[in-house]
Amino acid sequence: MSDPSGAPILEATGLRSGYHGITVIKGIDLEVRNEVFAVLGANGAGKTTLLATLARLIPSMSGVLRFLGEDVTHTPAFETAARGIGYVPQEKGVFTDLTVAENLTIGGMIGDRAVDERMSEVFELFPDLAVLRNQVAGTLSGGESRMVACGRALMQDPTLLLLDEPTAGLSPLYVDMFFEKITEIHRTRGVGIILAEQNATKALQVADRVMVLSLGEAFLVEEAGNLTTEQLKEGYRI
Ligand SMILES: Nc1ncnc2c1ncn2[C@@H]1O[C@H](COP(=O)(O)OP(=O)(O)OP(=O)(O)O)[C@@H](O)[C@H]1O
Ligand SMILES: [Mg+2]
Repeated sequence: MSDPSGAPILEATGLRSGYHGITVIKGIDLEVRNEVFAVLGANGAGKTTLLATLARLIPSMSGVLRFLGEDVTHTPAFETAARGIGYVPQEKGVFTDLTVAENLTIGGMIGDRAVDERMSEVFELFPDLAVLRNQVAGTLSGGESRMVACGRALMQDPTLLLLDEPTAGLSPLYVDMFFEKITEIHRTRGVGIILAEQNATKALQVADRVMVLSLGEAFLVEEAGNLTTEQLKEGYRI
């Protein structure tokens, strides 16, 4: 369950990052607790860059990042993954030459619980994947691939799951199903979620709090229920 008053899982202070010396994320302060935290913003606002920086896949230029109270500003991504930061990238996220079950097994290389047990839990959440378990991931549909990528991250028993536009390009039925799953992952498994989204309407239905990112800066952080259409429009300006 959401515990907005609880201790922060992830804290960023003055986080800056970018590419080839060009700053994209321009000094973000962030405190994410055991909640669904949506990061909204227009194309190019920096959502993917922010999530990749939080997952330690892009080095920060300055600032401090703390996970579960420990400084992970310079911790390698494989170690933050092992400590409990799961990451599902905007694109790809599956090994196309491997089967669904093999993809999930790779996620299960992190953590102590039996892989079979964890895989059954993923199949419980995404029953379609049980049927597709022996199919090569490269032959899956877009929606099925998203489920595998998400399932693989869940196999790591994350404390915090970073989801980068998990429903982009999917049909409405899949979009609805995926948002229900996001709520289920948070409510029944107690996983904190940072969700980068273009689809503000959908994100606001599942989020506890929201950050509107504008040109790499936090335009606002607000309870999802308090966000006004005017604020959203203003934050989406380029
Ligand atoms: N690998 C890269 N090298 C150089 N610049 C990049 C790279 N990736 C992203 N950028 C730039 O960083 C800025 C932010 O991009 P980012 O992908 O983080 O935005 P986004 O909010 O995720 O957009 P979208 O909604 O389209 O996914 C953009 O100006 C983009 O051109
Ligand atoms: Mg993106």
